[in-house]
Amino acid sequence: MVAASASEAGVVAGGDATAVTFEVNGKPQSVALDPRTTLLDALREHLRLTGTKKGCDHGQCGACTVLVNGRRMLSCLSLAAMHEGDTITTIEGLGTPE
Ligand code: FES
Repeated sequence: MVAASASEAGVVAGGDATAVTFEVNGKPQSVALDPRTTLLDALREHLRLTGTKKGCDHGQCGACTVLVNGRRMLSCLSLAAMHEGDTITTIEGLGTPE
């Protein structure tokens, strides 16, 4: 498996970053990212929440499912910039092994 490059992961080196603030698993988070970054890549590459998986990256497998404002959503099909102020829950926020 080849690691994603910085541009594939939505990491912005120049001045094209968009600031997005949302609540993830109960914590306020603010990230600066390329406006084309998917919610999935924002969670995995910017916030290091790798419990949300990238399977097909085309909306077919459901591996990237998260809760946005309590509603199920495929994070690979949604841009992170569309979620300003939203409440997002990933698998890491659902509980503990106990
Ligand atoms: S990665 Fe398969 S539906 Fe999102």
